[in-house]
Amino acid sequence: MKKINIIILAAGKGCRMQSSRPKVLHNLVNKTLLEHVFFNAKNICNNIHIVYGFSGNKVRQSIQDDAINWVEQRQQLGTGHAVSQAMENIEDDSIVLILYGDVPLIKTATLKNLIKKAEKNSIAILSAIVKNPTGYGRIIRVNNKIQKIVEQKDATQEQLKISEVNTGIMAVESRLLKNCLTKLTTNNANNELYLTDIIYLIAKQNKTIHSETTKNQTEALGVNSKLELVELERSLQKEQAIKFIQNGLDIKDINRFDCRGEIIFGKDCEMDINTIIKGKVILGNDSKIGANCSIKDSKIGDNVDILPNTLIEDSIIENGALIGPFARIRPGSNICRNAKVGNFVEVKKSIIGKNSKVSHLSYIGDSEIGENVNVGAGVITCNYDGRKKHKTIIKKGAFIGSGTQLVAPVTIGENSIIGAGSVITKDTPDDKLTLSRVQQTTLKRLKNN
Ligand code: UD1
Ligand code: CA
Repeated sequence: MKKINIIILAAGKGCRMQSSRPKVLHNLVNKTLLEHVFFNAKNICNNIHIVYGFSGNKVRQSIQDDAINWVEQRQQLGTGHAVSQAMENIEDDSIVLILYGDVPLIKTATLKNLIKKAEKNSIAILSAIVKNPTGYGRIIRVNNKIQKIVEQKDATQEQLKISEVNTGIMAVESRLLKNCLTKLTTNNANNELYLTDIIYLIAKQNKTIHSETTKNQTEALGVNSKLELVELERSLQKEQAIKFIQNGLDIKDINRFDCRGEIIFGKDCEMDINTIIKGKVILGNDSKIGANCSIKDSKIGDNVDILPNTLIEDSIIENGALIGPFARIRPGSNICRNAKVGNFVEVKKSIIGKNSKVSHLSYIGDSEIGENVNVGAGVITCNYDGRKKHKTIIKKGAFIGSGTQLVAPVTIGENSIIGAGSVITKDTPDDKLTLSRVQQTTLKRLKNN
């Protein structure tokens, strides 16, 4: 087997994206376009040459890996010119696999097959039959033999009707590739050195251009505009949703589901519309997620009910808990078994103990709440003194009256009661009622005149 080198073309600006960010750094599902291509390449070998140019530093910083040899293309003079830059470091006796940084979903198995074919036939290209070939290079065949590739802008009306297109992906013997690259000209509508012209040059030498045609439409799709990116994102999200449904997740609408990370789920979980999953989310059995929730890097147990419009990040929600609607669970929180966090409650870096309830309009930050605690409506832990954060501890069985402010650091005693509207600045004893408020007085009403 010959040595394999992979070249990834990522130097272009991507004018059609209408963005100041280089095209290959746009996100698709959970990775940049370039990361998609790179991780696929890494499944094949560790000799990966990435051609960068536009916004070079940003592109270089986006992936750090020893397998990469970064090659600068100072001026973007075309895909053929881009490949030439990388060839300087590539030995004559190898197979070169060329990938485009804007064709992100190519499968490893397809690439391996293409390399195998190139080892036998000197060159193998990957084509696709697509419904809408606009924008792609068309594969021109005579008697079924590939003669050349014609770019959209250079094609005749007849050629534009051809639905077999160039995916941009090819594997070629290094020596042959080097030889053809020196013969490219800019004699075309874009005034560029087209890589695709090597096909014509090789065919002219009476060599057969071997081709593989992918049946998977999404695999071949290139991203040139934001609309194409959005369409690709949606088709991938749908594909994911269908896979999850087949594995038992009850997703209400595959068109309104977004998993931008990883989700692991047990049996009989339900997911209503517009929920966004990010990072790694684990769901137990029989849990329900309402509409419009966003969940990131969290572990959710069995029989958990997350009501609509709830945000959860980097937290643990234990079995039987009830969260939301409109709750915000911020990083480092642990909502224990059968606890309840209700509407307009924000919890940050806090433990809400087993069977405890914070039902309405509260802020709980840097707190440890024990079991069977009831936190009344509008209770606030005042955790920040302007310089440092402080801790609030509420021991088990306590009852905090509505509208109370707990000025941290402070500890509320076991089975104690805090009267509504109190401002608590000192630790309170177990089993007692503590309250701090101005005594209510009634004065004679002042009358006008
Ligand atoms: C290219 C192919 C076309 C194919 C399509 C598949 C050519 C001439 N055309 O067209 O046949 O159907 O891809 O998606 O190759 N790049 C550089 N340096 C340059 C120019 C481009 O690195 O000087 C990079 C871009 O960053 C991009 C890739 O090469 O990742 C393809 O360039 P792009 O301009 O998008 O080519 P297409 O017009 O899509
Ligand atoms: Ca492209």
